[in-house]
Order: sequence, then C-alpha cells, then structure tokens
Amino acid sequence: MRLNKFLAHCGIASRRMCDELIFNGKVIVNNKVVDSPWCEVDLEKDIILVNGKHLKLENKIYIAINKPKDVICTLRDDFKRVRIVDLVPMKERLYPVGRLDYDTTGIILLTNDGDIANRLIHPRYKVEKVYKATLNNILERKDILKLERGVILDDGVHTQPAKCKLLKVLSNGCSIAELVIKEGMKRQVKRMFAAIGYKVIELERVQFAFITSQGLKRGEWRYLTSSEVKMLFKIAGMDQKVASN
Ligand code: URA
Repeated sequence: MRLNKFLAHCGIASRRMCDELIFNGKVIVNNKVVDSPWCEVDLEKDIILVNGKHLKLENKIYIAINKPKDVICTLRDDFKRVRIVDLVPMKERLYPVGRLDYDTTGIILLTNDGDIANRLIHPRYKVEKVYKATLNNILERKDILKLERGVILDDGVHTQPAKCKLLKVLSNGCSIAELVIKEGMKRQVKRMFAAIGYKVIELERVQFAFITSQGLKRGEWRYLTSSEVKMLFKIAGMDQKVASN
C-alpha cells in the first residue's frame, strides 16, 4: 500500500494532510525519514512512525444509523448544528457514506473506510436507495411514468430511470410515494418531484443498498454484521481482505 494511503487509513488525517506530514519529514519508515507520499510500504513488516508514534492499521468500522431531522451530514458546520457523527461517539474519525439533507430522516451508513464509502456513492456501482416521500398533492399515474422514464432537473441534468409507486393517499390531499433511485445527486428526490410539479413535505430514506432502518429508532445506530459488510464489499466490487487488513 502507498504510504499516504496507509496514513489516511490509520485515521490520523486526510490524504492531503498526510502528504504534508510526509513532505515535512514527520514520517519514518524503518528508521529512515521518507519524503515521498507514494512510496510503497509493507503493512506486515515495515515499522512506521509519525511524529514518533508507531502506527498500526486502523480497525474498520461500519455503522448504520437512522438519521433524525435537524442533524447535518457534513463534518464541519459554521452554525454549530448537531452533526450525524456526534450521534455516534467514538474515537475513530467516522464519516457518512453520502449525505441526507438536514430535514431528511432515515438510513445512512457511517464508516472510517474511505475506499468503500467512495465507491458506494459513485453512480457506477448503481447502489439502490429507497425513499418515502410525502407530497403536497396526490401523485398521478402520468407523473409516475415521467419519473420512471427520467426527468430533467433544474440544472438540466436528465435523471436515470427510477422506480416509483404511490403508497398512500392522505385525507388532507397529500400522498406518500416510494421512489427508488440508483444515483445520488444533491437533493435529487426533492428536485425530481419538483421537476414534475410536486413539493416534498417530508422525506425519509428507508433503504440504502439492502440495509434498512428496521429496528432502529430515529437517532439509534448499530454495527453492520460481518455478512452485511461482506455484501457491501461485493456491491462495491472490492476485495475485503485488501481493504480492511
Ligand atoms: N434526495 C433529497 O432530495 N434529499 C435527501 O436528503 C436525499 C435524497
């Protein structure tokens, strides 16, 4: 593995910051200062010190959390709002796999494994996301067909075909619809419904890949089981041994 990747894997800093540590002579491999972030290290044999501290590969953590409303998915926030990672107090640097809006609830994964996180949010891997949207009107059949064919968003992007069904008509003239998409553009669900004339009043993600929020109350989280992690690696086309050892 490349030295900068290893340092980032250990969770000490971002890949760019790790490069800086190396350039600044703070990293020693087998008693020698190394000045190239790209030098290959052998994780079994090499002894790597950063600022004098012996580094070992960080344990990989995979968590599913049911996000409540009024929580942000970014790691930094100028307004000091509650962050999703604040709900899982842990010494490891966790980050969310993709984002949900501040007012969106539902399932989101947290991990310290950047490789799989990046793949799971990449459209190439076509990870299915299932949303339950409360709409300001009754969703009509003709509009379901539009969503299924793909719609043009406010920025001109044409969405991929989606799956959609009407789940419930409410007595107040609103309705609840399920939308399944494989992309993950910013505010995509709200913008897809806006493109066909509906406003999303409430949005919940009920499934990410095969992981659902079942059994998790809002704000609750759990570790993924080893077979769930294995399946995610399969979806992401990765060899788990290489990534997590
Ligand atoms: N689409 C949205 O519009 N918002 C979300 O939070 C997630 C998907």
